[in-house]
Amino acid sequence: MIIRKLLTATRIILFEFIKFAVIDLTATAAIKNLFIKKFFVRRMAGNVIIYPGVRWFSGKNIELGRHVLISYSCYLDDYAEIKILDGTGIGPSCRIVTGTHNTETMDMIGRPVIIGRFCWLGAGVIVLPGVEIGDFSIIGAGSVVTKDIPAYSIAVGNPARVIKSRAVKIPFKLWSGEYINNFDNLP
Ligand SMILES: CC(C)(COP(=O)(O)OP(=O)(O)OC[C@H]1O[C@@H](n2cnc3c(N)ncnc32)[C@H](O)[C@@H]1OP(=O)(O)O)[C@@H](O)C(=O)NCCC(=O)NCCS
Repeated sequence: MIIRKLLTATRIILFEFIKFAVIDLTATAAIKNLFIKKFFVRRMAGNVIIYPGVRWFSGKNIELGRHVLISYSCYLDDYAEIKILDGTGIGPSCRIVTGTHNTETMDMIGRPVIIGRFCWLGAGVIVLPGVEIGDFSIIGAGSVVTKDIPAYSIAVGNPARVIKSRAVKIPFKLWSGEYINNFDNLP
């Protein structure tokens, strides 16, 4: 019994060590992405950029689109599904949270979060369970997103409120620095 527990603990520690060593220490994005895609997240498209210090709960419920960028020290709490769609950038130290508790019984509840295409979350944004952020929206630094945000919005504050709308222009600069001329035909 004790030996089995020790073996399980060793396996978990080794797996976590390898996982974060790959994410934090691999210099070449291509190799890093290969490992992340194969072993650590459910679905990941091409050209994703993941900076060091990014952490997640299990990875089993994470889906990343093409040209997604996740900056330093973000935490993806994928107790339920997290989808980050094509072209979206998540600023440093953001928290995307899908797990919560029943406020009477403390039972665990999972609610999926979807962040649309070509969005930008500034530094330190917190997205709460069940929220959907519409395509092309921007969330200001330090905001707490408690409710759905419509597409093309700029929302700020705690709780995040829409302060203006966005007019998106083509050509549009991706996080990789490349320009695109067609949102439906990404490189
Ligand atoms: C959201 C943001 C893009 C808005 O830019 P903008 O459209 O130029 O907006 P403005 O600067 O004109 O601000 C409009 C109002 O919103 C307020 N506001 C702007 N950003 C805010 C924020 N993050 N939280 C709370 N209020 C904010 C401003 O104080 C201003 O309020 P006022 O009308 O009462 O004066 C920008 O403020 C921001 O948060 N950028 C994120 C930067 C960042 O995190 N960088 C890290 C690298 S990814």
